Amino acid sequence: MGTDTTKTLSASEESYIETIGNLIRERGYARVTEIASILNVKPPSVTNMLQKLDEQKYVTYKRYRGVILTKKGRSLAKTLERRHNTLKRFFVMIGVSDENAEKDACKIEHEIDPETAKKLAKFVEFVQSAPRTPPFLEHFTQYLETGERPKECKVKIQIKES
Ligand code: FE2
Repeated sequence: MGTDTTKTLSASEESYIETIGNLIRERGYARVTEIASILNVKPPSVTNMLQKLDEQKYVTYKRYRGVILTKKGRSLAKTLERRHNTLKRFFVMIGVSDENAEKDACKIEHEIDPETAKKLAKFVEFVQSAPRTPPFLEHFTQYLETGERPKECKVKIQIKES
């Protein structure tokens, strides 16, 4: 532990950090009742967890007052938010519904290796910053809809094989 930044929190603990970060970003504060309702847990569980996260220096929590993220907590919240966005954008890109993309991003963001997250972020950035939708993505969308490779793909394959 100490200044070690490697993963020391469970997925559930990380979800608290993410939720607190989102609440503070959206409203400027985070309260136990709101955290409980978002995470679908009872307020006493939130209180216990906040005390635990306070001991580990991720948050500053005083009973009957709000909770704020420490520098360490903010840094983790930012990493999770970035991963969440990358994963969600990637899933939507390959045709997953917004709802499932959101749900799966929130599960995977806690388990994904930093290298994988980084490369995936680069990939999403590369595709989305392209001047137009890359042909392979248009072709993939067609493939999803029809189950067939577009003609252009087939021609290229034939040329290669002959
Ligand atoms: Fe998330």
